[in-house]
Amino acid sequence: MLGATHRDMTVAGPFSDSERDAVYRAIHTRRDVRNEFLPDALDADLILRLLAAAHAAPSVGLSQPWNFILIEQEANRRAVHALFEAANNEAADRLEGDVKRRYRALKLEGILKAPLNICITCDRKRGGEFVLGRTHHPDMDLYSTVCAVQNFWLAARAEGVGVGWVSIFDHRRLADLLGIPDGVEIVAYLCVGRVAELYRKPELESKGWRDRMPLDRLIFSERWPEESHVLRLYREISVKP
Ligand SMILES: Cc1cc2nc3c(=O)[nH]c(=O)nc-3n(C[C@H](O)[C@H](O)[C@H](O)COP(=O)(O)O)c2cc1C
Repeated sequence: MLGATHRDMTVAGPFSDSERDAVYRAIHTRRDVRNEFLPDALDADLILRLLAAAHAAPSVGLSQPWNFILIEQEANRRAVHALFEAANNEAADRLEGDVKRRYRALKLEGILKAPLNICITCDRKRGGEFVLGRTHHPDMDLYSTVCAVQNFWLAARAEGVGVGWVSIFDHRRLADLLGIPDGVEIVAYLCVGRVAELYRKPELESKGWRDRMPLDRLIFSERWPEESHVLRLYREISVKP
């Protein structure tokens, strides 16, 4: 039966000041971690709390299209790392000169250093033929899975756990390695572990690769502005490399 009773509802007021501050602190101090992982294993309860946070994410039509593959054995992480190396060499080969040298100097994964890796997938058939909200936008299941990733990342920050997202892979080769069937797509490969310290701002910003854009340049009023206006706005934003 469709329809909610008052027993299904709860109050929706704002959090207390300290609770609200904690939420914003998690959001603003979350970082992508590559090199700062400590080797300490994470206990099972903690991992389950983080996965429960991911599983609480919104999903199109409540389809919950995600799965979480936990990869801890070193031999398996080494095999994944080899795939990263191959893809990263291909990425570097698209660059030349100083930019290539600067790209090469960046560490872009923590696959071997992090004690836990998690591959988060999206089952494109989850929810059956008709998924409410997916009728006109089939990729909404992928967006839903990204929401789960972000929940995981923020909860991890609150728990003092670092997370690094590695996307420099040939996903077909990674799917073969992990035995992922057709119809299930890799959305995120995360390196997870305790961290001693975090960058204050994005590491790519600290290392001069790219700056955070000013928020006020990204907000438009009522509709997308004239092209000349957009060009002027974007020219003012320093984009590297
Ligand atoms: C979809 C996605 C893919 C990413 N892939 C990589 C990656 O392959 N390697 C890497 O070092 N960082 C990766 N990152 C992390 C971004 O570089 C990072 O989020 C960005 O520089 C901002 O830094 P912050 O997350 O510390 O705020 C990825 C982030 C996202 C959201």
